[in-house]
Amino acid sequence: MGQPNERGSPVSAPAGQPDQAMAVLRTRAELVAARARLSGRLGLVPTMGALHEGHRRLIQRAASEADVVAVSIFVNPTQFGPTEDLASYPRDLAADLAVCRAEGVRLVFAPDPVEMYPAGTAEIMVQPGPLGMVLEGRVRPIHFAGVLTVVAKLFNLFQPHIGYFGEKDYQQLALIRRMVRDLDVPVQIAGCPTIREPDGLAMSSRNRNLSTVDRWRAVALSQALGAGAKVGIKGADAVLDAARAELSGVDTDYLVLRDPALGPAPKRGAARLLVAARFGTTRLIDNISVSLGDE
Ligand code: PAF
Repeated sequence: MGQPNERGSPVSAPAGQPDQAMAVLRTRAELVAARARLSGRLGLVPTMGALHEGHRRLIQRAASEADVVAVSIFVNPTQFGPTEDLASYPRDLAADLAVCRAEGVRLVFAPDPVEMYPAGTAEIMVQPGPLGMVLEGRVRPIHFAGVLTVVAKLFNLFQPHIGYFGEKDYQQLALIRRMVRDLDVPVQIAGCPTIREPDGLAMSSRNRNLSTVDRWRAVALSQALGAGAKVGIKGADAVLDAARAELSGVDTDYLVLRDPALGPAPKRGAARLLVAARFGTTRLIDNISVSLGDE
């Protein structure tokens, strides 16, 4: 038996040790039973699978902060619109389980859609409010209700102490923080920096669906963000102009500057530059922090 943790419960071994047994659970009942047997602080990394280095870093961060790490792998149908890429979203459970095992994850929950939504969908859903209707929400009107609903279900099932989410999905992270605050969900939210390919492209499961040419073209997103952030000292117009110049010929849904909470951009100080664009049938998003004005 290991050291008592801060709640005084025994912890058998630190999180992140690859040789620990990993349980793979397919039903909510199995998950609830397994959760009841865990002690110590639980870190949850919710994912839709097709795990990449960005997910690995979330798991590693969870392992460094929590006693036990759990991962959910579920391509959540309620967050996809009828014309979106639910069918083509990449899936590779065997490879995902190998990643989780190598990172010392103790518990993986990989349910089928019917297990999560026995009636086909959830009739009662978490509504994201005004922040869920702008940017991604404008292009994907049901997206955030689906995200918040499944995240709320996962929080209820896992009862984690900390939930880990990437900053690449910046609006999603902001909405999850707000849901937790507004609904008094007893979980801490950890936002983790975007992990990038060597050429700057933000890691995303959807990158696997890019053709060779589109993969090459998609680097324009991080180049645009980098060009914008570089001229932050000159103000908002200069940031947007510099970013836009890198996006010529790119099918851009939006390129916007906001404050860190996604309200109107300030004249000076901390801001966020966000972009979404389509490359063939694949839609990608990215964002970066920008310091505006001469502070
Ligand atoms: O970011 C994702 O992968 C998904 O939106 C999430 C948070 C796992 C909910 O399905």
